[in-house]
Amino acid sequence: MIRVHSETIASAPQVRHEIAGVSVGELAKRFGTPLYVYDAAMVRRRCRDLTRSGGGASWDTVRFAQKACSNLAVLDLVRREGVVVDAVSTGEIHRALAAGYAAHAAPEPAGPHTLPPVHPVVYTADIFDRESLDTVARLGIHCNCGSADMIEQLAERVPGAAITLRVNPGFGHGHSQKTNTGGEGSKHGIWHEEIPEVLRRAEWAGIAVTGLHMHIGSGADLGHLAEVAGALERVAREIGRSLTTVSAGGGLPVPYRPGEVHADLGGYVALWHDTRRRLEDAFGHRVRLEIEPGRYLVAEAGYLVAEVRAVKRQGGRKYLLVDAGFNTLARPVLYGSYHPMSLCPAGNDPVVAEPEDVAIGGPLCESGDIFTQEEGGFVATRSMPAARVGDLVVIEVAGAYGFVMASNYNSKPLPAEVLVEDGVARLVRARQTAEDLVRGESV
Ligand code: LLP
Repeated sequence: MIRVHSETIASAPQVRHEIAGVSVGELAKRFGTPLYVYDAAMVRRRCRDLTRSGGGASWDTVRFAQKACSNLAVLDLVRREGVVVDAVSTGEIHRALAAGYAAHAAPEPAGPHTLPPVHPVVYTADIFDRESLDTVARLGIHCNCGSADMIEQLAERVPGAAITLRVNPGFGHGHSQKTNTGGEGSKHGIWHEEIPEVLRRAEWAGIAVTGLHMHIGSGADLGHLAEVAGALERVAREIGRSLTTVSAGGGLPVPYRPGEVHADLGGYVALWHDTRRRLEDAFGHRVRLEIEPGRYLVAEAGYLVAEVRAVKRQGGRKYLLVDAGFNTLARPVLYGSYHPMSLCPAGNDPVVAEPEDVAIGGPLCESGDIFTQEEGGFVATRSMPAARVGDLVVIEVAGAYGFVMASNYNSKPLPAEVLVEDGVARLVRARQTAEDLVRGESV
């Protein structure tokens, strides 16, 4: 039985003057707004939750799903924590190499009592586009195949390659239907009933299946995630002794709303250890146990700082309009996602007025450009300290699927990103300029 942990997330302070020890006002003045700020210590802490056991079992491999936050400085930070990386595109492979990851594992003598070497970068996708197939073949990147067609395509380019199969176990779960990656409603993975046929295809193509991976969705709860262990074990036994690595996928939830708690990861990893041990007994050799979190490692470390540019009333409702929109953080418009928010008064003035219910939106010419919305686009309000033009709004738990999903809609430049480490703020991605916006275009 999976229980919840005692570590309760503090409800977001309504007024925030600093991020990781650096003044929010100073950050805005120095780097401008809208601005993503990452707290390096929090990224490290979340890496260590998974890489270090603290007395109990831990994962052999933590593989960061970099789609959640792929800034090179963040990749470098997790690499130094011993975390390896997942890549879903040629661009993400390029980022991994630029951040110092090797393309493939150094060959190590294997034996029944040693774990197989870890792949520093794994390409996980349901297709090879032509560019990604060229890239993985040229660099020798290990591939996690979510469609059987990928097997023959890879075999043609890399005869005798070893692969991982991404299997759809027939059920899934996510914080939104759009992030549920299992079951018939999902395009992802190889359908669990197709395994015998897919193994025949792999054998015919001369491809060895050494890995098995299941990822049922993002923002799932641990109860659903725990069901994956049993489903994976059944498929692993069908594949048999060629397997040397199993991956539990990602999907670990993080607390967003006040009162939500961190899940009991100790119980979860223990469950997976038991699964792995049974597979080792069945196969007669060691099996590496991986987990592939994105959100868990970076969500709480990220803040989006925006400036209030207008305060207005539409009938009975009050709106704060800030200089960040769904071009900067898309999660509310896409999923109705809730993010904690706080106010940093201009000049660090004390807040005197009573809190009030406000809707908070951005600058875009589209009604959906609202951060306080629910799924379906319904505008909600949030109780915030009274704000004036020039105050800063800090949107919290924004490190995962924040900057990486930002766009140039309305020809808005992508925001800057800053990493705060040991009290020092450092620009790790420059804000785009007007020239960047038209680069490559011609009349
Ligand atoms: N592994 C695979 C194969 C995935 O597709 C994903 C996420 C992960 C791992 C990491 O999942 P996580 O641990 O972050 O839940 N844009 C959405 C999330 C989309 C997730 C896509 N795949 C959001 O903002 O919530």
